[in-house]
Amino acid sequence: MRLFEPTGIMSRRLSMAMLFVLSLVLALAPRTAVVEAVVVDGLQVGYYNLSCPEAEQVVRDVVDAEVAMNRSIAPGLIRIFFHDCFITGCDASILLDETPAGDVPEKESSANGFTLVGLRTIDVAKTTLEAMCPRTVSCSDILAFAARDAAVAAGLPSYEVGGGRRDGVHSRMDDLPGNFPVPGHTVPRLTELFASRGLSQEDLVTLSGAHSIGGAHCFMFSNRIYGFSKTSEVDPSLDPAFAERLRKLCPRPKPDDNPQESRKVPFDERTSEKLDNVYYQELLEKRSLLTSDNTLALDPKTRPIVERYAKDDALFQKKFGEAMQKVSALDVLLRPDQGQIRRDCHVVNKARGQHFPIIRWPRPPRHPMQQMLNWFIRGFQQD
Ligand code: HEM
Repeated sequence: MRLFEPTGIMSRRLSMAMLFVLSLVLALAPRTAVVEAVVVDGLQVGYYNLSCPEAEQVVRDVVDAEVAMNRSIAPGLIRIFFHDCFITGCDASILLDETPAGDVPEKESSANGFTLVGLRTIDVAKTTLEAMCPRTVSCSDILAFAARDAAVAAGLPSYEVGGGRRDGVHSRMDDLPGNFPVPGHTVPRLTELFASRGLSQEDLVTLSGAHSIGGAHCFMFSNRIYGFSKTSEVDPSLDPAFAERLRKLCPRPKPDDNPQESRKVPFDERTSEKLDNVYYQELLEKRSLLTSDNTLALDPKTRPIVERYAKDDALFQKKFGEAMQKVSALDVLLRPDQGQIRRDCHVVNKARGQHFPIIRWPRPPRHPMQQMLNWFIRGFQQD
């Protein structure tokens, strides 16, 4: 006699058990498959499917709600994301208010400071996710998802963003000078800076298309409309009527002006809330705010790309999504021994009883107009 010869009841129980196991496997299979399916640069699409299934949806809902209340949040989030990833990778270092090393953080740089828009949106998403899935979703992933959702809210077709980034524990304002593009740069220097981050000249032109939404403060381009050169008060590569309009909107800056009171002008007046190719059409019409935008239409190496995008919105939108995916994989921290999942995006997690050094810099540091002009128009000495 066989020891486990199934009786009628036993065989029914066995087949029920097998059915249960099978349905469990089937229920889990699609999710597991998604998690394992797409791995780009170590990042996994659907990374939170098992650990926090609502994570991406929560970020999307928060971004949509915030953008519905204030359209300027969309460009703001895309810019924060780019500034974070370009300096020391996508590690949410831009969100830190203080660091264990006591360095003045990236956030305090004049390239960031009061010009960052949308920081609160990341806080709202993080607080919601910490309540749902504590210590699970990193600030850097939230920022990468939020930038995508912001682009989608501005009319871009959606693109996939992998997850699995961990948050950095360092942030230094001094990492920016010499490593970061400023409005006064032209194609050769911009190309060099982008190449140093593994981004091509085409990526430079494509990603600059983010300037299809949002705007710039007058002091970022005042050098083009006042005292441009010894021979020309206004940048001759600007459409004269456009330059005249800008001069009406933006008075000549004075060294003791408060930069925060400077007016913000939309990059692309015609479709300022839509992430589309009108920005490139405007470049060809000599209507751009920043030298760094204008140079893309002037330089023979980049002009053909500008012309192509100006004619083909679908191509620009597709390439923009792809370039954002490339940015989202810059120097990501992936291993468990790298970085951490911050509980609060503003500060590095502290161990019990641990104290960080007292922060000694004046908070917030003052950025007088002259300092802003030096940085934005001329760049630092190293540039
Ligand atoms: C190529 C070099 C670049 C330079 C020199 C540059 C510089 C600037 C400057 C000066 C502003 C105006 C900030 C203000 O006045 O508040 C700005 C805004 C913006 N930048 Fe860039 N940028 C560059 C590339 C990029 C890239 C690659 C992205 C994203 C992929 C980006 C996204 C944005 C967005 C969305 C805004 C509008 C922000 C808002 O209205 O709040 N920029 N950029």
